[in-house]
Formats: sequence, C-alpha cells, structure tokens
Amino acid sequence: MRVLSAALFGVVLLIFLSSPRHITADWRPRKLATCDLHPKIEELMLNETKVWGSKGITEDLVRSLHDPCPTSEVRIHACVKSQRILIKNGTVYVTNLMPVNGFGAIELIGFLVELYETSQVYQLPDVEFSYWHDDNAPAESVGHPDGTWSWPYPPHGLPPMLAWSKAKQHGALLVPYSGAFRCPHDSFDALLNEVQRMSETPWESKLAMAFGRWNIFCAWYYNGPHRMEDGSASPCPRQYYNDLYYNHSDVLLTAGLTRNLTSGGVATPVSLHEQHNFKYLVSTDGWSISSKFDKYLLLGSLILKAEGLTYGFYYPALEPYKHYVPIMQKHKNDILDMIEWAKTHDAEAQRIAKAARRFAMRHLNRQARLCYIFRLITELSKQMKYEVSCSRRPVCVPLVEELKFLSKYHLTTTKCRYEEVLGQYGWDDPDGLPEFSGYEELKKRHEDIPQHILFGPRRASKAKLRR
Ligand SMILES: *[C@@H]1O[C@H](CO)[C@@H](O)[C@H](O)[C@H]1NC(C)=O
Ligand SMILES: *[C@@H]1O[C@H](CO)[C@@H](O)[C@H](O)[C@H]1NC(C)=O
Ligand SMILES: *[C@@H]1O[C@H](CO)[C@@H](O)[C@H](O)[C@H]1NC(C)=O
Ligand SMILES: *[C@@H]1O[C@H](CO)[C@@H](O)[C@H](O)[C@H]1NC(C)=O
Repeated sequence: MRVLSAALFGVVLLIFLSSPRHITADWRPRKLATCDLHPKIEELMLNETKVWGSKGITEDLVRSLHDPCPTSEVRIHACVKSQRILIKNGTVYVTNLMPVNGFGAIELIGFLVELYETSQVYQLPDVEFSYWHDDNAPAESVGHPDGTWSWPYPPHGLPPMLAWSKAKQHGALLVPYSGAFRCPHDSFDALLNEVQRMSETPWESKLAMAFGRWNIFCAWYYNGPHRMEDGSASPCPRQYYNDLYYNHSDVLLTAGLTRNLTSGGVATPVSLHEQHNFKYLVSTDGWSISSKFDKYLLLGSLILKAEGLTYGFYYPALEPYKHYVPIMQKHKNDILDMIEWAKTHDAEAQRIAKAARRFAMRHLNRQARLCYIFRLITELSKQMKYEVSCSRRPVCVPLVEELKFLSKYHLTTTKCRYEEVLGQYGWDDPDGLPEFSGYEELKKRHEDIPQHILFGPRRASKAKLRR
C-alpha cells in the first residue's frame, strides 16, 4: 500500500507538477467571487457546514479518508467509495484515482464535470473534502444526541464528505445530483431546453390521470421509521402504488413498473420527454432521493410526491401545496384523496404546477447549481484548520486531466457531456497537459489499482444502514 502510494506520488507529481506547460490559453473572463442563493437553500448549507463547531476540520479527519480501510470494513467503508478532492490556488485536484470497476456511474462523473465547471466560473478557495457517489451516501456518518457527529472508525470524527442525498442523522454536506442534472439525454438540463415545447401542450389537454414509472427499490425507512399522520408505518410507495393501480386504474396509471398484467413482464417505458402529457405525476423515492423529482418539477404538471426521510440540497426551499402535493403523508391511500382534490380544484392544481416549474427554472438551472457548489465550498473552506497541500497526498492530479481521461476511456466516454466544459474551458486550461498527452499514464494508473480490495459491491452500504 505505502509503496504503491509512494510510487504514484512520484510519478504523478513528476508528470503533472514539473512538466513544461505548453498550452497557450485564450483570454477568458475573470472568475466570479460572489453569487446569491435562495435563502432557504443557503440556510441549510450554512447549518450543515457548522457541524464541526469551533474545532473545525483538522487534517486528521481528512487523513482518515486516505488511510487504508480496516480489513474488517473493507467492503463497506466509505473510504473505498469516495472521490477525494483538493483545491489549491483555484485548481481542483483529485487525490485518489477510482478503480475502473466502479467506473461509469454518472453520480460520480456528473459531479466531477460540474465541479470543474464551477472552478472555471468561480474563484474557489483552498479546501479538501471527499465526494461520496453511491446512494445512501454517508450511511456511516451519524449525529449524536449531544450534538456531535462521528463515523464509526475511531479515533477520527466526521470527515468532510459531500453527497447528493441524505437523512437528518447523516453528517454529509449536500450537493446537487449533478449526474442526473446534466449527463443523460433526459437530464434536467435537456428537459429545461424543452420547456417551450412542453408548454405547447395546454393544461386543459393534459390527461387527468396520475402517472408514475419506477423501478421497485424500497428505501430502508418504509415499513419502518417513516410514520404517517394516522400513526402507521408507511408502506413502500413503489410497491404499494403498484398494487393500488389494479383497483383504481381509472385515475392511476402509476405502478406498472416491474410487472405488467398483459405482458407479465416489465412495464413499457414512457420517456420523460412525454410525461408532461399527464396532468398529475407521481414521484416516489428509491434507495435515496429520486432524481426524477427534479425533472418532474419542470414538466408543468402537478406533482404528487410520496414523503420520505431523505432529502436533497434544495428541498427546504420547497413547500407542500405551493410546489407539490404530499402523499403517503396522512394515510397510505391519501393519493386517491389528492387526485380527487386536484380534479375538483383544477385552477389551484395548475397554479402549483406553474410554481414548481418556476422554482426549478430559477433555482436548479446550471448556473444556480454552480453558485451553490461555489458557496458550499467557500463555507467549507472557512472550517479548514490546516494548509492544504498536494505534497501530503499520495496522488494529486488536476481535475481537468481526469476529465479528459474520462472523456476518452471506453467505460466512461459516453456517460456525460464532457465537451460542454472541455470545449469551453478544458483543452487550453493551463493546469492541464496538451490534449490527451496524460491519457496513457492515467489509464495505467486507474487500471493498476487492485479492484477487489478497493471497491466493494455497489450496494453494500445499504445492508449496514438497515441494521
Ligand atoms: C437551520 O438550523 C436552525 C437552528 O437549528 C433551524 O431552526 C433551521 O430550521 C435550520 N434550517 C434548515 C433549512 O435546515
Ligand atoms: C496561483 O494562481 C495564479 C493564477 O491562477 C498564478 O498566477 C500564481 O502563480 C499561483 N500561485 C501559486 C503559488 O501557485
Ligand atoms: C384491491 O381490491 C381488493 C378487492 O377489493 C382488496 O382485497 C385489496 O386489498 C385492494 N388492494 C389495494 C392496494 O387497495
Ligand atoms: C403491458 O404490456 C403490453 C404488452 O407489451 C403493453 O401493450 C402495455 O402497454 C403494457 N402496459 C403498461 C401499463 O405498461
């Protein structure tokens, strides 16, 4: 381990820090040093970055992410699932290289692309943290009744970890689910470009049915800690609505999803680009928050959102009955009451649908997300109690080089829209090497990592969380 680290350190440093820079960069605008967030989004972010109290973030917390995993925990320990990041003098570096058998997840790639774009638009301060890309992010980070936070690998306290979904008891700092916001053909950003087309289907011609499509994953808090107003434990909506559909197919077209009475198989997919044709959309969470919910906000339909215990970075700014209608809240069949309510309060339903779209267009667009990441990193940097430096990390590769690598490597090349940032900022970034000249070296480094040791099964964290 140590030998490998030392070797990586030497080679990568040699390549990236001491090679001559022969990129002649074009003029680019000055980086921004300020931007405004929705007050509620800002409030949550400020709350979250305060959990370290006056002790702040000391180097031992960050080092704990780089220590070899305890053998007993090797398959679930957060250090194998997290991408470590260091920012120094405005340049973002990755301080570990992910093994290729975890490659391809847009949850990781999308965040790296979005972080890089943030670093090109905003002046980022010196900071160090890690990003957890799996669902149920830092399942291991837990808040205690006395207000302190830990993760279960003493003697260390909570390391700074970013994640896209969490529940209250988790100490992670929330960031956008950037992969779903920007990578696939039906990303949030792609749908944002279709708002005009979708608006050409008037409210009156939308089909007055509640539509939903999902894969059946049930979060740990259903049939468990998540209680409804009637005191009972909420069933898993993805399963329950599937059953409800067969009794109420006059108003519900949900479910379907992994079975279909006609075909006996998987439900026919309905593209997100078409779902605005339904007046009511049913959003349910899977293992963690649903990225489809972000997208549904744009579609100009009324969202019926099943309540759950996990949330994303902007959720505190959303209000029930203003931006969406909550279900699985009063009792397990309240979806039927809400559909009935919507049908008899059509103008109000339409107003809520419009408010949802306005909210998403204003606060979740790409510039707003970059602003959020910039502000979060800026707050986080205020907690740092030591001087961050590449010289103390086993690997320190400029993020722009990692992105160029991902944009070419066969397992990742089609996974995101790299050229949107590389074309604008990356190819002449003075922090990088010309074109693909770092590719072969990075490929070798990524592929050389002993995979079975460093990367456990993707879903391993959940078993732990459920215990
Ligand atoms: C932030 O913390 C305060 C004090 O604990 C709390 O009242 C408030 O609801 C929190 N805000 C958010 C958005 O979580
Ligand atoms: C920090 O970055 C600026 C411009 O990005 C550069 O001019 C300066 O030399 C850098 N300082 C150090 C210590 O690397
Ligand atoms: C559907 O209807 C059947 C027959 O009335 C009933 O036994 C079952 O509980 C209903 N299922 C749901 C989910 O409402
Ligand atoms: C079920 O499958 C049949 C045959 O493939 C298809 O025609 C039908 O639309 C599907 N129904 C649903 C609700 O997906």
